[in-house]
Amino acid sequence: MPDEYENKSHENSRKHGRASGIAKASVSGKTPEESRVETTELVLPNDTNLLGNLLGGRLMHWIDVTGAMAASRHSNCVVATVALDSLDFRHPVRKGELVILEAFLTWAGRTSMEVAVEVYAENISSGSQILTNKAFITFVALDGEGKPTPVPPLLLKTPDELNMAADAVARREERLKRRES
Ligand SMILES: CC(C)(COP(=O)(O)OP(=O)(O)OC[C@H]1O[C@@H](n2cnc3c(N)ncnc32)[C@H](O)[C@@H]1OP(=O)(O)O)[C@@H](O)C(=O)NCCC(=O)NCCS
Repeated sequence: MPDEYENKSHENSRKHGRASGIAKASVSGKTPEESRVETTELVLPNDTNLLGNLLGGRLMHWIDVTGAMAASRHSNCVVATVALDSLDFRHPVRKGELVILEAFLTWAGRTSMEVAVEVYAENISSGSQILTNKAFITFVALDGEGKPTPVPPLLLKTPDELNMAADAVARREERLKRRES
């Protein structure tokens, strides 16, 4: 890997408050923090419906792409979306607001990963933020031939992370049942 890419990786470690040594020690596994992704979008007129609210389809696209970035960062692979469980629309997002998407891994299997994506709308004038959506997406890491390929284990440390992983396992069982039916 060229030096400039290694430097970028360390830069990313610093941005997330990690010592660079942690990233190096992660060859056999990675923490959710190491692949966490935050993206911010501005809701432009072309992103909205006739009422000036963010289109659901546009938001789903942003959720999918942000989730895929976290899964790719964990696996260092191209990933394919295999399941999107559900997506609640709790509050409309208005034209001119910022949409902040936070994606992080909750569980990793052999080749698949579950990613949670939390979506916040930020009003630029007041700076206030509100949670508008939450989604769980399953991605599969693919090799150069488009076949599923193993991903590093997810290193879980905090009670919150362990609880989220237990919930993820229960969701996975439901998904696999659905897949068979
Ligand atoms: C991704 C793809 C190559 C995987 O092939 P596959 O034959 O399903 O592979 P497998 O059965 O070995 O499953 C691979 C992993 O995905 C998991 N998986 C597959 N379908 C799943 C589903 N609906 N929900 C949850 N997990 C699923 C499997 O449990 C397995 O996980 P594990 O390795 O961690 O145990 C294939 O499903 C595919 O091409 N799907 C279409 C993807 C797509 O076009 N997405 C939209 C654009 S990105």
